[in-house]
Formats: sequence, structure tokens, C-alpha cells
Amino acid sequence: MGRPLVADIVIAGGGIIGLSLGLELRQRGLSVIVLERHHAMQAASWAAGGMLAGRDPENPPTLLPLLLRSLALYPAYLERMQALSGDAIPVRTRRTLQQLDAQKIFATDLNIPLASYQEAQFMVPGLADTGEKFIWLEEASLDPRDICRALPVAFLAEKGTLLEGTPVLSVEQAKDGVVVETPREHIHAAAFVNCCGAWAGELGLGGLPVEPVKGQMATIALAPERLRCVLRTPEFYAIPRGDGRVAIGATVEHAGFDQTIQEPSIAVLLRTAGEFLPEVNDAPRLESWAGLRPGTPDGLPILGAAEMEHCWHATGHYRNGVLLAPATALVMTQLMLGETPDVSLDVFAPSRFV
Ligand code: GLY
Repeated sequence: MGRPLVADIVIAGGGIIGLSLGLELRQRGLSVIVLERHHAMQAASWAAGGMLAGRDPENPPTLLPLLLRSLALYPAYLERMQALSGDAIPVRTRRTLQQLDAQKIFATDLNIPLASYQEAQFMVPGLADTGEKFIWLEEASLDPRDICRALPVAFLAEKGTLLEGTPVLSVEQAKDGVVVETPREHIHAAAFVNCCGAWAGELGLGGLPVEPVKGQMATIALAPERLRCVLRTPEFYAIPRGDGRVAIGATVEHAGFDQTIQEPSIAVLLRTAGEFLPEVNDAPRLESWAGLRPGTPDGLPILGAAEMEHCWHATGHYRNGVLLAPATALVMTQLMLGETPDVSLDVFAPSRFV
């Protein structure tokens, strides 16, 4: 038996969902241990684009209340993280130029006028005149790598316990709670939360239909004045970081747990971006990477009680993990403490897949 530990809550997964939930629970006075099998914030959280795209017309409509709640929570969430960590998490852009096909414009209730090509060019001087339709969205973006630095520090400053290099071997029922085994620890806790992202179905807590959905991205160098907002179409997005870096994303691939970077896929992505923003074709490449989003069959997160008593799931955030972290932390805390969540979680219940 490993070293004995006791906590109120054990969270598996040291990504943005697990650590944000851990922080929220700590602020309610509960003791929290986060178990991360590799390094915290190095999987999907690190690979993310960082758009707070709550009003992206590609989002499932049933997700909107949770997205809007999270958007409302974001300023306080960032402030808290910055105050606790001492790290800055600057907002990198405040507007998105979103291309829509005509059908989507009529189907959406966004009620936002189309942007003229001249208006669009003001923020994106190199925009090609493709004849496509665009709208402006008042939507911010962040560099997720800023959060990756700050969030673990904030969690530790709040006296959370983070055990890296620590996989969960088993979770068993015990009197009034669970026992979680790791290679080195034997932890008694009142509750266990599965925040394992794309790996959430691998924990053995019932057959969760979480599927890894691979995304490949690249960063190019482009002068900040050439792209001063996020440019997004259903096929690609370009996110300027305000410092000469522009992140271009992302592929959407059903390739299991493969995380290799494939040059032909990146080349197609950059070519697609280059059709709208020809400067991308000649821009130096700074970085390429791949990550795994936690996908679900209905495109909605999985938030709520697991089949095993005292166990919970908070996963399946697919393309919106960064945006949904504060609302997920809040509503999961409320649910676990027997309070009424700010947003109805019925559509996100794990039991919908049983
Ligand atoms: N959140 C951006 C993406 O999934 O590509």
C-alpha cells in the first residue's frame, strides 16, 4: 500500500478543467488533491487556440447558456488567477471577424449586421476579396500558454495539492467516499472527479463515450498591424497574439490517441488560411503542434454524477475547454455541494449515454 493521504476531493486530470475546479473547491474551504499522470496543463490546455468563442455560430445551441455563464465569469476568473499567481494573462484580441455561409446567417439568432469588406480590411489589411460574408463578434482571445503558466501556481498558492507524474490506478468505493490508488499513494476522499479530457473514458468509471479529436496547429510570424482581430471561418482560424505571432488552427481529425504532427495536414491548413489571408503563404513558421480535444457523440460536455457513488465527471468540452473552465468549475462545485447550479445541467448529465 502507498503512502496514506486524506482529502475532501480527489481530481484526476491537471488540465484547465481539473485545476480550475480544484481552485474553486479550495475557495469553498475543501481540501483538494489533483492527480496528473504527466505534467499539468500540457495536453489539450496547452494545445488550445484560446478564443473565448461563446457566440461562434458553429457551437451547439444547447451549449449557449453554459457558454454565456462562463463568459460572464471570465474577468473574475482571470483576475483571481493573476492575483494568486502573480502572472499576467493579457487579453490578446477583443474582436473576431467571422465568415458565415448565407444559410448560417439566416439560421442564427445572432442578429448582427454583416461587415463590409472595407470594414473588415481595416482590422485585416491583407484580407483577400473572396466575396465571402463576414460578421463582427465582440469576442476576446487569450494565449492559453499564459494560463498554463499561471493556473498551477494559483492552485498551489491556494494550498491545493498537485501530484504530477501520478496516474490513477483504481478508484474503489469506501465507507462514506472513495479510495484512490496511485503508484505511490492510497488516498481516502469524500469524492472523486474525472477531469481527464480526451482520456476520460480510460479511467474505468463506466463506459464514457469520450473520443479524442485531434487538432494540429501552427504559429507563424506576421507583423501585429497586419491582423488585429481573430479571423475565423468554419475551416480555419487565425489568432494574433499581439506580439508578431499568429496561431493558425486547426485540423479536426478522428485518429485515436495519435498526436503526431503531420506536415501535409499543416500545409493544407496554412493553404486554407492563405486563401483568405495571402500573407500566410510567405510567413515564417515558428511552431507546429498537435493536441487531443475530448469529443462526445452529441458535441456537449459531460458534467455530473458518475455511475459509481461519490464519483463525478467533468469532461467532453471538445472545442470550448478554455472558455468553459470557469463555468464548469462553478457548476460542478455547486452540484457536488448539493446546491442548485447556476445553469441547468440536465442536457450534460453523464446518464444520457447509459
Ligand atoms: N478551440 C479551437 C479548436 O478546437 O480548434
